[in-house]
Amino acid sequence: MAKGKALDTWQQAPVDGYSTRVVGGDDYALTANSDIVIITAGIPRKPGMSRDDLISTNAKIVVSVTQNILKYTPNPIIIVVSNPLDVMTYACWKASGLSDKRVLGMAGVLDTARYRAFLAEEIGCSPKDISAILMGGHGDTMVPLPRYTTVSGIPVTELVAADKLNAIIERTKSGGGELVNLMGTSAWYAPGAAAAQMAVSILKNENRIYPCCVLLNGQYNISNLFVGAPVRLGRDGVQNIIELQLNTAELELLHNSATAVREVVSALDNMNLV
Ligand code: LAC
Repeated sequence: MAKGKALDTWQQAPVDGYSTRVVGGDDYALTANSDIVIITAGIPRKPGMSRDDLISTNAKIVVSVTQNILKYTPNPIIIVVSNPLDVMTYACWKASGLSDKRVLGMAGVLDTARYRAFLAEEIGCSPKDISAILMGGHGDTMVPLPRYTTVSGIPVTELVAADKLNAIIERTKSGGGELVNLMGTSAWYAPGAAAAQMAVSILKNENRIYPCCVLLNGQYNISNLFVGAPVRLGRDGVQNIIELQLNTAELELLHNSATAVREVVSALDNMNLV
């Protein structure tokens, strides 16, 4: 399958005008000397399943993939996409022994993309004009932040009524589930684009600021936990974590989300898989 997908993508190159030779296969030697590795492996959610149901199956897959990657690239930057996202990022980091700057998870870029798409539809504007940040775990407790959401510089609260904004926040939180229900499996175009955008910021040292799943060590009064926060992405991976001046209500939502992620981390730790 990977070989076929790669060949198909390579044959797209003359039409779309790119030169990158894409290769695929089931041999980890093909990944040798990678600058970045993106792990998406895992079973996808089935309708009605939460991301956390996937924990033990996907932890075993992510740990094995991580170990195999390291045989051919000793010090990669790894972006994890497998679910449950925050906990799989932790599992990868623990299995890898890599610096916490070099292991991060893709969730916030996708979740803010959903939030921005819904807002653009409501306002009738281009999604390009919506800038937003979102924090917390990649699950129903994620924390979209209206106070940090603007439409071409205009605070979103000046353009969208409170009840509409709340409905969009709720829809964003279950945005992944909405797609699973429609398709019987998880989304891939927007997740793929989101992971690619993170990779580009790192590879080109763009220093873009994105919400990513990273190891917090005291920021936001959260320690030893991989969870979503705004970071600057550059050549070293996570260049730094940005500490927003959250108000009490926002901090409470973030801490609730961190508690939910920590419960799944404990479940994983109790399985002694990593
Ligand atoms: C989603 C998966 C990729 O949210 O977690 O669609």
